[in-house]
Amino acid sequence: RKVTVRSPATSANLGPGFDVFGLCLDEPYDIVSVEKMEENGIKIVVEGEKSEEIPTEPDKNTAGVVAKAMMKDFNIKEGIKIHITKGIKPGSGLGSSSASSAGVAVAINELFNLNLPKLKLVEYAALGEGVAAGSPHADNVAPAIFGGFTMVTNYNPLEILHIPVEMNVLIALPDIQISTKEAREILPKKIEMEDMINNVGKACGMVYSLFRNDIELFGKYMMVDKVVEPRRAKLIPKYEEVKEKVKDKVYGITISGAGPAIISIPKKEHLLEVKELFEEVWGRVYYTKVGNGVSVL
Ligand code: HSE
Repeated sequence: RKVTVRSPATSANLGPGFDVFGLCLDEPYDIVSVEKMEENGIKIVVEGEKSEEIPTEPDKNTAGVVAKAMMKDFNIKEGIKIHITKGIKPGSGLGSSSASSAGVAVAINELFNLNLPKLKLVEYAALGEGVAAGSPHADNVAPAIFGGFTMVTNYNPLEILHIPVEMNVLIALPDIQISTKEAREILPKKIEMEDMINNVGKACGMVYSLFRNDIELFGKYMMVDKVVEPRRAKLIPKYEEVKEKVKDKVYGITISGAGPAIISIPKKEHLLEVKELFEEVWGRVYYTKVGNGVSVL
């Protein structure tokens, strides 16, 4: 038997929600399939977008690490073959490694009828992030598995809060690569009280706006991160300039995850204009909507 899943891109942080907020996108996505094989062990094949940069040894591959942990915990002795088709460019700020990790966690759960709850799947998928980003973050794997909008409110034990949302988003993907590690190293170890108050206030406002279905308010607060975005903005060519130009033509715009992708919530009446500007400056653009998480095909 073979299980194939569609595993979507995600956007972490959303401005003031650094390392906590995550949003599931409908596109782009990876296709991950897992099947049993005769030999023991784990075999990984990766193709698609920048796949030559992805290691295929199970201990170095994010999906491999997830598979290995699940097979150990559930005493699965059979061998498996993992096939990943990357639709999400690695190092883009769109949760590329998380999509593969989340996809493989869901596929193994299905293939071996483990019936694990979503929270447990996030926990396994987060192990893969430990390999990719240095520490096991869950702010991309949580929305990849739950869909909609998620908040990682605790580690050890992992706690995830989930709010389903419907929203259109316009993503720009500049043609540069940013390593999450570097994008974290430039962040301050300590922050001013004033900045903390700003970010907590705006983050609370964003969550409130979801319950009121107020996309305008959500976007307004998404743009006012005083801690992370100002430091990372410098890593993305023309980011500040374009943000200034479009800030009244979108509900909100900020850096997606560690960048270089940019997430914006478009206003219908300016969508085409903003899309064309993004394309002109950064090249690739995705006009998509909030997604429902990994789905079994
Ligand atoms: N919250 C993380 C960051 C996402 O912005 O560094 C990338 O893993």
